[in-house]
Amino acid sequence: MVMSLLLNFIFPPPSSLFVSAMSVISLVILVKSGYSEIKGKHLNYSKFWNANANPQNQIKLSSKAGMLLLYTPALLAGVASFWIFPNEGIRSTILHAAITLHYLKRDLEVLFVHKFSGSMMLDSAIIITLSYFSSAATMIYAQHLSKGLPEPPINLLYPGVVLFLVGISGNFYHHYLLSKLRGKGEKEYKIPKGGLFKFVIGPHYLFELIAWYGVSFIAQTLYSFSFSIGSTFYLAGRSYATRRWYLSKFEDFPKDVKALIPFVF
Ligand SMILES: NC(=O)c1ccc[n+]([C@@H]2O[C@H](COP(=O)([O-])OP(=O)(O)OC[C@H]3O[C@@H](n4cnc5c(N)ncnc54)[C@H](OP(=O)(O)O)[C@@H]3O)[C@@H](O)[C@H]2O)c1
Repeated sequence: MVMSLLLNFIFPPPSSLFVSAMSVISLVILVKSGYSEIKGKHLNYSKFWNANANPQNQIKLSSKAGMLLLYTPALLAGVASFWIFPNEGIRSTILHAAITLHYLKRDLEVLFVHKFSGSMMLDSAIIITLSYFSSAATMIYAQHLSKGLPEPPINLLYPGVVLFLVGISGNFYHHYLLSKLRGKGEKEYKIPKGGLFKFVIGPHYLFELIAWYGVSFIAQTLYSFSFSIGSTFYLAGRSYATRRWYLSKFEDFPKDVKALIPFVF
């Protein structure tokens, strides 16, 4: 019953043990990581780069180097997909372009937009790099395996392109607002203002999720939805922890500013 409903929106799952296992593994790891953020056990980057870490036993990277390490292998997977799986139709080409554009945008933002104050722990960087690379590669491979399968009756490709473009634009805009909080060389944290920061502390996370659901709509594979749903849990946990951090650090932090979804959560 559930499966026949789902098959209106997604390609029939391919008979690949690898992709099926990855659909479950990605979802479980991301949900668990979101739960850990709520419990105060953070991945060690940005505000939480030195939370619950024992600095003596840890290798540190600058935030800029760490972030480039996170995104570049996934970017290369996106670029390589044009050569490895060429001419597989418009859906695949748009998916390859969306993945490439997303990670290229992130590298360019790291280089030219973000103003970082801290570091990143190498072990967190390795976990996140593997997660981004394996998700990009699996999403591309799952699309390749869907070639020749019957198209889902409801075509979400073009709504997906619109969602993706809205998502990356909103994500970029809120990164820009964050970067304006600091002057050159400044490392202080301030209460973010402008855009959807009036309603939530993680509008950039919200738009990131909109972009990933856009990618899922473009791909219409089980794996792509599994990744977006998992990312929702992770970023819900991270934004919840971030809101708690602002409440503890700023007495004048407005209590009606939610974590991720305006007026709701
Ligand atoms: N798909 C996923 O699973 C996933 C997971 C994680 C992140 N992401 C995406 O990656 C992007 C960056 O995430 P993030 O967690 O690193 O974001 P973040 O913690 O908000 O940091 C983004 C940038 O803004 C700066 N910043 C943040 N709050 C600030 C404040 N109050 N005052 C001054 N500067 C401030 C940070 O500086 P500092 O470095 O000094 O903190 C950093 O340069 C987001 O768009 C997010 O959606 C995606």
